[in-house]
Amino acid sequence: MDAWIEVARGPLFRISLTICMLGLGYRFAVTVGQIIGAWRRAGDRRVPVADVAAATLKWLVPVRLLRIRPLTSVASFAFHLGILIVPLFLAGHVVLLSGVLPGFWPTLPASIADGLTIAAVTALAVLLGARVTVAASRSLTRLHDALILLLLLAMVVFGFVAAHPTVSPFPARTILLLHVLLGNLVLVVIPLSKISHCVLYPLTQLVFQLGWHFPAESGRHVAIALAKENEPV
Ligand code: HEM
Repeated sequence: MDAWIEVARGPLFRISLTICMLGLGYRFAVTVGQIIGAWRRAGDRRVPVADVAAATLKWLVPVRLLRIRPLTSVASFAFHLGILIVPLFLAGHVVLLSGVLPGFWPTLPASIADGLTIAAVTALAVLLGARVTVAASRSLTRLHDALILLLLLAMVVFGFVAAHPTVSPFPARTILLLHVLLGNLVLVVIPLSKISHCVLYPLTQLVFQLGWHFPAESGRHVAIALAKENEPV
């Protein structure tokens, strides 16, 4: 079992992290390329930078949703807090990360890591429950939306149990192996799924803004397509 754990947290982890980084870099670069292309084609190339920045901030931190759907908004916030902080700053993860990305990595006190993990587990259960039980949410949910939440939930639960072997009804090393394997799977899934929003979200409002800028000469091309180029507008 220990040999499998070493493989999972050694070469497999490094391969998964590389896929995650390169995949996210690729998705980011493709989107930036498409934005530059749209901007070059636009008839009106002015971009209201301050408005786009304000709209981006509103989307990144969607406080407005607190009024519309308070429970899932709080759950989403709690889940993101845990999923962003614990993987980066829990002592066990820092050992792994500092082997790949050397530098200064502060570590979280175990009690805070536990609190964030329990909050994330509860939040994921709420998000999953809402997707299954709330009709409006269910109609927008595809299988992969639920599978991503289940995968994240399993990874976080196994992580918590691995950190508290005394509460585990199963052998602690098996739980640790499952946690590491699921963590690696999440790393690979991130750039291939909607989780890539972690790098694409800051660009969404810019895409939206440029999408409304018609290419130069659009009017003339439409008139030609309709065989009405000689008619007054
Ligand atoms: C700084 C990076 C990130 C930002 C700004 C961000 C932002 C958001 C926002 C605004 C939403 C929609 C929230 C809502 O509808 O209430 C969302 C949903 C979601 N995010 Fe993130 N996120 C980030 C990183 C991550 C990471 C690292 C993961 C997982 C590893 C993740 C997983 C998810 C999932 C699964 C959902 C959908 C939840 C559901 O099904 O209801 N996010 N994110």
